[in-house]
Amino acid sequence: MRVAIGADHAGFEDKRRLAEVLSSWGHDVEDVGTFSSESCDYPDFAERVARAVVDQRAERGVLVCGTGIGMSIVANKFKGVRAAVVTDAFTAEVSRGHNDANILCMGARVTPLSDMERLLRIFLETAFEGGRHARRVEKINKLE
Ligand code: RB5
Repeated sequence: MRVAIGADHAGFEDKRRLAEVLSSWGHDVEDVGTFSSESCDYPDFAERVARAVVDQRAERGVLVCGTGIGMSIVANKFKGVRAAVVTDAFTAEVSRGHNDANILCMGARVTPLSDMERLLRIFLETAFEGGRHARRVEKINKLE
């Protein structure tokens, strides 16, 4: 799968490791930065990942900031993006199964890296359930 990944300074270290993990799982990874722990602005990186998904260069996106919240707020400004802040296995699974989320947002100050790896795998491997959930996602699309 083609996956775009980005982070701000708070998520930089975890993002670097998650990009390595994705590659080791055989995914084609586009790392949009940031590439150092120097302070930066999360909207810049959320925009890059959102555009990668909207432009179909990536099938899924991953964003890491302090909480995941800022990244999700920015990414959800883009038509066609369904970015979800995920904190545990249940929200990871349901974000895909029910919401057909295409960008996973996680918080480096909330979730340990080992948990992030598990949530990432669930996010990538869980299929959208369709059915009544497709009707609901279609209602979201109509609002855009
Ligand atoms: C940066 O300090 C922090 O505000 C940012 O990483 C993120 O948590 C915003 O939502």
